[in-house]
Amino acid sequence: MAEGIKSVGVIGGGQMGSGIAQLAAVAGIDVWLLDLDSNALTSATKSITNSVQRFVSKGQLSQEVATNAIKRLRCTSNLEDLRSADVIIEAIVESEDVKKKLFSELDRIAKPSAILASNTSSISITRIASATSRPHQVIGMHFMNPPPIMKLVEIVRGADTSNETFITIKALSERFAKIVVCSQDYPGFIVNRILMPMINEAFFTLYTGVATKEDIDTGMKLGTNQPMGPLELADFIGLDVCLSIMKVLHVGLGDSKYRPCPLLVQYVDAGRLGRKRGIGVYTYGKQPEVSKS
Ligand code: NAI
Repeated sequence: MAEGIKSVGVIGGGQMGSGIAQLAAVAGIDVWLLDLDSNALTSATKSITNSVQRFVSKGQLSQEVATNAIKRLRCTSNLEDLRSADVIIEAIVESEDVKKKLFSELDRIAKPSAILASNTSSISITRIASATSRPHQVIGMHFMNPPPIMKLVEIVRGADTSNETFITIKALSERFAKIVVCSQDYPGFIVNRILMPMINEAFFTLYTGVATKEDIDTGMKLGTNQPMGPLELADFIGLDVCLSIMKVLHVGLGDSKYRPCPLLVQYVDAGRLGRKRGIGVYTYGKQPEVSKS
């Protein structure tokens, strides 16, 4: 059960992994954060420190909890350091082959009782689990971006995920003060099955010259009462992540309505990946600004 979880490993120190590591550290759990890129670990440590301090300055966290959380966080590039973790949460690149390779290595190094969770946005948990000898202990734990702020965790049960694994991960999510929904293992699960076609359609709307990016975003923001327009949200999520999810929906559901918009493909080809690269649909400086192009 979740109270027994003393140590968590998080793999991938990007926007999602760093936020997940923060949640675990604030919940009083020892965390190993692993990334192959040492620059990612440096930025993750910086962003976690700044984020917990923001919670302190808003009165949402005591200084003591924040200081202890930072002390509980250790960074590494060596998978063997995750040997004693009770739960390992993967948040690396959205590629089935890369995730499967990692899960097969995790299966080798993790202790037999460890649960292996994936933060994948859309890839089949059943297929990721098939790379391990413990499919009953593999589960989807899909956080929303940014994990420290967004209330939801979408839990995805693979074909062989056990009830015990589900109950433990549900309780762990609740320990992170999240609300849980449960999805069966089908492409895009609940949230991205619905959200990504909307984002893709916003790209088609831009691509076919129906409206400017600003009008598409303002129209959807004010017309459907969303905090961000779909193109702005795509930049926030990462255009590479959006494209990967659309490909999973297209292949997995076999319907041409899920084909990725050529403009989305072109932006990704050009390295316009969104906020994390400073350019996507919009360009971002120190102060986020809207490009004139
Ligand atoms: P990101 O690009 O910000 O970070 C990925 C990190 O993983 C990078 O620091 C990279 O160096 C590291 N990495 C890549 N391969 C690795 C490996 N084999 N071993 C260790 N580290 C490795 O990506 P982001 O946005 O954090 O997404 C990560 C995962 O979370 C993806 O599966 C994505 O679909 C999912 N996700 C993303 C959301 C978003 O809004 N960006 C929301 C929910 C889930």
